[in-house]
Amino acid sequence: MSRIAVFGAGYVGLVTGACFADLGHDVVVRDVLPEKVEALRAGRVPIHEPGLSDVIERVGERLRFTLDVSEALEGADFAFVAVGTPPTHSGDPDLSAVWTVVDELPDGMDTTLVMKSTVPPGTGEKVRRALDLRGLADVAYVSNPEFLAEGTAIHDFMHPDRVVVGAFEPEHAERVAPLYETLETTIVRTDVASAEMIKLASNAFLSTRVSFINEIASVCELVGADVVDVAAGIGLDHRLGPHFLKAGLGFGGSCFPKDVSALKQLAGNSGYHFQLLSAVIEVNELQRRRVIQKLQKHLGDLHDKEIAVLGLAFKPGTDDLREAPSLVIAARLLAEGADVRAWDPVADARSLLPEVTFSSTVLDAVRDADAAVVVTEWPEVAALATQEAYAAMRRPIVVDGRNVLDPEAMRTLGFVYEGVGRPVPVEVER
Ligand SMILES: NC(=O)c1ccc[n+]([C@@H]2O[C@H](COP(=O)([O-])OP(=O)(O)OC[C@H]3O[C@@H](n4cnc5c(N)ncnc54)[C@H](O)[C@@H]3O)[C@@H](O)[C@H]2O)c1
Repeated sequence: MSRIAVFGAGYVGLVTGACFADLGHDVVVRDVLPEKVEALRAGRVPIHEPGLSDVIERVGERLRFTLDVSEALEGADFAFVAVGTPPTHSGDPDLSAVWTVVDELPDGMDTTLVMKSTVPPGTGEKVRRALDLRGLADVAYVSNPEFLAEGTAIHDFMHPDRVVVGAFEPEHAERVAPLYETLETTIVRTDVASAEMIKLASNAFLSTRVSFINEIASVCELVGADVVDVAAGIGLDHRLGPHFLKAGLGFGGSCFPKDVSALKQLAGNSGYHFQLLSAVIEVNELQRRRVIQKLQKHLGDLHDKEIAVLGLAFKPGTDDLREAPSLVIAARLLAEGADVRAWDPVADARSLLPEVTFSSTVLDAVRDADAAVVVTEWPEVAALATQEAYAAMRRPIVVDGRNVLDPEAMRTLGFVYEGVGRPVPVEVER
């Protein structure tokens, strides 16, 4: 078993640390935020990630938390970097936290440095050069990008589709690959730049599928086709597969928007105009705004209209609000003069949306509302498909941005219902 240091106690760092400890390794996670480390030491998990608290509890003393770099690295065979790489104003990722970790490595260290943070191709090369210049030639550098998805992160870590290990020297890859040998998976051994590119290209491809099906949905609305059936029919083609063909409000979260933009900018910085990704980003931005047009179609001017926004997290199973479509939709509604009330079972958006009123249940949120918009497909949204919800609303208008409700059942209940890319019958207002 190995001694592993993990830098960053966020979604990736905590899951990585907890799962490696669960696999039997001795792990110390280091973060720079005292309140985060204190909470973790006291047994409080600062993020909502299903199953994470159970694993942390189960592994006990095999997983410890610190603010101190030397404590994290003491006796460590591996130093995993899992710090954030958020977007900058230019669309390139901000790698300052990665560089801080590299700069803080102590002189004389010979631990293997493993990059789990998503970084653009070329970063490993720069880190390698910086390590050599600092006299840290004995530090092996390995790129090991993470593919977990929030909401299913523990499962994804333990059952990965593949593990990518990119190294400058093949023997360095052979140090990291055994950490995953008990998992049933394929290990992709490659060079560092290719490993870095696999991560960005994967997220860009998934985002492209989302924007593609959203454009198909927009055409479906014009020609009377149903995108849910269309996607099911497309997805049965083994060359295409069924995943990421859900029409909706587009992709959000801390990864897809940032990584698509990072790849587009990286291409541009390298002299190539990545046209497809520009379209993917534009389609995604417009997709959120189409909700407003649908509401206006039914309500006219949105000024002083009461609109319920159901779901705030960028997807169910997480409290992550980074790049959440809900924030754009709420901001657009407020800009149109609407009164917005919002509901989410775990995400706390009070500081991000100070002008919004927050409700503790779906029913409270829709009471006396002129319309409800389903933004995140939490299971609780099913409460909308009831006689009680119909009776509670001032106008029974539902825009289902995730196609989670049954259009037939909603219309039978009396709702004016619109999904994304689904046929809309001639409207009957009450
Ligand atoms: N969140 C995901 O679903 C996901 C999935 C795959 C890959 N990634 C990538 O993994 C990386 C981390 O993402 P995240 O969502 O876990 O980020 P996060 O923002 O949740 O967590 C990052 C943590 O790093 C800490 N940190 C900053 N500087 C540090 C330092 N010098 N030493 C130690 N800790 C430091 C921060 O305080 C924070 O707690 C990013 O590059 C992201 O693109 C994220």
